[in-house]
Amino acid sequence: MTDTQIPAETATAPVYAVPQERQVVTAIPGPKSEQLHARRAKVVSAGVSSALPVYIERANGAILVDVDGNRFIDFGAGIGVTTVGHTEQHVVQAAADQLQDVIHTLFTITPYEEYVRVAELLAEHTPGNWEKKSVLVNSGAEAVENGVKIARKFTGRRAVAVLDHAYHGRTNLTMAMNYKAHPYATGYGPFAGDVYHAPSSYPYRDGLSGADAAARTIAYLEKVVGASDLACLVVEPIQGEGGFMVPADGYLNILQGWCTEHGVVMIADEIQSGMARTGRYFASEHFGWEPDVVLSAKGIAGGLPLAAVTGRAEIMDASQPGGLGGTFGGNPVACAAAIAVFESIERDHLLGEAERIGSTLTAGLERLKQRYDLIGEIRGTGAMVAIELVQPGTGDTTKVPNAEAVSALVAYAAQHGVLFLSAGTWGNVLRFLPGLAVSDALIEDGLRVLDDGFASLG
Ligand SMILES: Cc1ncc(COP(=O)(O)O)c(C=O)c1O
Repeated sequence: MTDTQIPAETATAPVYAVPQERQVVTAIPGPKSEQLHARRAKVVSAGVSSALPVYIERANGAILVDVDGNRFIDFGAGIGVTTVGHTEQHVVQAAADQLQDVIHTLFTITPYEEYVRVAELLAEHTPGNWEKKSVLVNSGAEAVENGVKIARKFTGRRAVAVLDHAYHGRTNLTMAMNYKAHPYATGYGPFAGDVYHAPSSYPYRDGLSGADAAARTIAYLEKVVGASDLACLVVEPIQGEGGFMVPADGYLNILQGWCTEHGVVMIADEIQSGMARTGRYFASEHFGWEPDVVLSAKGIAGGLPLAAVTGRAEIMDASQPGGLGGTFGGNPVACAAAIAVFESIERDHLLGEAERIGSTLTAGLERLKQRYDLIGEIRGTGAMVAIELVQPGTGDTTKVPNAEAVSALVAYAAQHGVLFLSAGTWGNVLRFLPGLAVSDALIEDGLRVLDDGFASLG
């Protein structure tokens, strides 16, 4: 038992060790954060930035507490990682227990049950009713790298296709797979070759139906790559860093049909959209899409580093023994935490909670959209919602991106104890991806601050 939460059996609703309320008691950042920031500047690479340089001492439920005693409502969850809530008691307990038993053996030397159990849970909960197998790794980018490697081995083909506005990571291959070069790739080349960027579905800006957008994507793939050379098409079912674009109806299924017809492995990058975030285990389910391979990371282990590639057994088994793995991949403590995450999703009805959060957020944002014409679009599903901001008066026509407003709103909210994250190819999207422990009261409070922020823009 940890001191972070009172056990569920003694409480009707979760009771948190940290009050679930925002509280600002110093300037933001406060003096202790400023001191830490000065220390950091001397020893931490300038290439590692921080969106909000307040140093966090404690995190619980939906609240971050900084070293100066300020409490922030967290609408970012470490970019969609602490989906079950910060320091969720079952995750903490499972990891603590595992630390006592086995911290590391290396699964490729002497295996352990927790790895197998995570693979079983992924086989059960990823879309598609067929035999599936997994490999566990450490990070999202590593999952993407392995997904591509596995698809190449299975197909014996070279080329990799991704979509415009995609984000897949910061390793050499994944830098080449991102849409946006800056800041992720600038100056870090040469990059991996044989990566092709096909047009995506972005209904707010392209106005295309799913069928028309898919025809455009397929035309590009056939002309520029050629199906017979294409190993895989990697797609985020709802694009994350690109700005939470939800593809038009039918788009993903038409692409899957084309991939199946041509022997191309279609890979769902569910690293940001998966693990209960959207009200389903995986966002692909909203579209009835059953991908050949699913990539998980971020929310899978409640904040511990773990990621997975899960796919059709025949694809996953094409790799030779020893071809997949790595020292820390599927670490026992991270696996124990992941098992607790799966249990929390069921026990605490988190799929329903994600839907509740989505309804509350969307209703509140709709009210703001009535009043502020720079909100061009509200989009997303469950607890993965965003607003795209445009220059006032351009919303219905040219939709000129308004990154300045997003920056100003993020800064305003931070000063008032709310952490919002930006996103979007043009930096003009404000995204909401809170942990699923966030109450309606906290969401409404955060939206009030956002409303004041819009009013302050003048
Ligand atoms: C869709 C998607 N793919 C891949 C990644 C890379 O994951 P990681 O940062 O764990 O390497 C991210 C991270 O934001 C992501 O959102």
